[in-house]
Amino acid sequence: MITTGKHAGFCFGVRRAVDTAFACVEKGPCYTLGPLIHNPQVVRILEQRGAHTANAPEDIPEGATVIIRSHGVGPQVIDACKARGLQIIDATCPHVSRVHQIVREYSQSGAPVIIVGGREHPEVMGIAGWSLSPVHIVFTREEALALPEMDRALVVAQTTITRERFEEITQSLKTRVKNLTCKDTICQATALRQEEAAALSEQADAMIVVGGKNSSNTRKLYETCLSRCSRTLLVETALDIPTGFVGPRDHIGITAGASTPEWLLKEVATRMNDMEKDQVLEQDFMAAVEKTLVKIRPGQTVTGTVVSITDDEVCVNIGYKSDGLCKKSEMTNTDCQIGDEIEVEVVKVNDGEGNVVLSQRNIVNRKCWDALMEKYEAGEYVEGKGKEAVKGGLIADVMGVRAFIPASQLSQRYVEKIDEFVGKDMTLKIIEVDKQKKRIVCSRKAFLAEESAAKKKEAWAKLKEGETVKGIVRRLTDFGAFVDIGGVDGLIHVTDLAWHRVKHPSEIVTPNQEVEVVIRSLDPERERIQLGYKQLQPRPWEVAPEKYPVGSIVEGKVVRITTFGAFVELEPGLDGLVHISQCALTRIAKVEDAVKVGDVVRVKVLAVDPQNQRISLSIRQALEEEAFNYEDEIPGDDLGVEEAPAGDAE
Ligand code: F3S
Repeated sequence: MITTGKHAGFCFGVRRAVDTAFACVEKGPCYTLGPLIHNPQVVRILEQRGAHTANAPEDIPEGATVIIRSHGVGPQVIDACKARGLQIIDATCPHVSRVHQIVREYSQSGAPVIIVGGREHPEVMGIAGWSLSPVHIVFTREEALALPEMDRALVVAQTTITRERFEEITQSLKTRVKNLTCKDTICQATALRQEEAAALSEQADAMIVVGGKNSSNTRKLYETCLSRCSRTLLVETALDIPTGFVGPRDHIGITAGASTPEWLLKEVATRMNDMEKDQVLEQDFMAAVEKTLVKIRPGQTVTGTVVSITDDEVCVNIGYKSDGLCKKSEMTNTDCQIGDEIEVEVVKVNDGEGNVVLSQRNIVNRKCWDALMEKYEAGEYVEGKGKEAVKGGLIADVMGVRAFIPASQLSQRYVEKIDEFVGKDMTLKIIEVDKQKKRIVCSRKAFLAEESAAKKKEAWAKLKEGETVKGIVRRLTDFGAFVDIGGVDGLIHVTDLAWHRVKHPSEIVTPNQEVEVVIRSLDPERERIQLGYKQLQPRPWEVAPEKYPVGSIVEGKVVRITTFGAFVELEPGLDGLVHISQCALTRIAKVEDAVKVGDVVRVKVLAVDPQNQRISLSIRQALEEEAFNYEDEIPGDDLGVEEAPAGDAE
């Protein structure tokens, strides 16, 4: 929006002078005493038409026409013009002429005249010329206070100064002059322009002040606007306005000094209009272009088309104003071709050289990470592979994410060589997550513990007392053998290993041996399982009649000697008695005369009594039979089998 001040440009007095000058040059060449107005463009046009500028009457040819400009001059200058026979056309502004009159009248009393204004200003100099009494010219408060004390004086103003200045100086003058006659001769046109410009510059985004740079009136206007609007520009013509000074849809205020002709003001307004339109068009165009462009941000996944491939990178059109570059090291689809549509992640919108940085690997990593986090939150296990042994643990690759496994979490037992896990696949549990650094800490131990607990639970659920199950002997102790029966260990007590007395379990089973056992009892609370091994083995006494039929000759070992005979072990837990009468071919006084403990002897089975767990044996008959190789029935009644003490036969 452009707003041009109503009071901008030529004031009444200036317009009158300019019109007078243009009318004058129509009749022939003429002169102006000093530039007609503070506007070089207007002065140049007048010059071209024959209105020349002269600095003093002496510079004007005698008899020529001279135009007194709106500032006016003192009577001395008029007299000088007359003396040269110049034809005078007085274009002094009527407001200024009135000041001349006030000063002339007051000065007739002899009291001094004080003019508030610029000492060098032609108007002030002209006013001073009309005084018949001493004249003081002041422009600042300090200058006013420096004046000598006076009984009375008149104070008038240069028509174009500000009212604030005039009032301030008047107040100061009252301290110097007892009887001060104050005439406010400030021109209303100037005040109105100043007030209007001040109000406009407070509302506008930018202000243009048009006018001659050497015009005090224009400079004051510029300062007024600048103090209220920092984007204020003083120009003499429209061409002085730099391109880009105005933004699209800015509110632009235009004001102009009293010497600025209307056509120049219009020219500036037109240029501003054009510039604003251009800016709006440009902005609309950019907005339209922006609309067609994809908006991207770091971390966003976009689909683009491969437009070129070099040794190092792949260039992808992602519909953004600039193409994206993806380093080959960041590609997961390494065999893509020009024209392929690929999914990429925006790493940086601008790498400093206007390129968008892309990555395909980030997408995979992010997907892996998301999948990992889902598993972590669900408490699920993950698969990993040992990569590198480091201080304190192992680095593993878990679905493309770097994971750390502390040494203490590698196993349920102490791990001496972490290296052994490098290259090894393992199931892990995520125990810690650093979402910012995208790192995880895993535990294999936790997985193993949970796995064995689950197996145990499952195994326990299957177990039933009295059932026969298969197992593996895991370890042996003095009191028995521990057997893994499918995830849980049960104990075969040493007394349940065999029907005979066993000193150590190793006599019956060995570690890693597969065995069949019976579940004797279950104690889930204490997690104790009592197993039986011997219970699945035949009792020696039950099979003794078949295994050792009466009349057969077998080998045995003398294990004990008593007064009535020798006990011979046929197998562990199965001892038979050789009565003293059956110990040798001849009669002996004591058993030791025939055998001693540890001897391996051949015996003939005379009788088997499983119920009472007794076997009668004979060394003598075995010897006889084998020596003579004949079978002779020996009446059983003659044997006189002696009862063994309880427990000895077990
Ligand atoms: Fe006259 Fe006022 Fe203009 S004094 S010349 S109308 S500024």
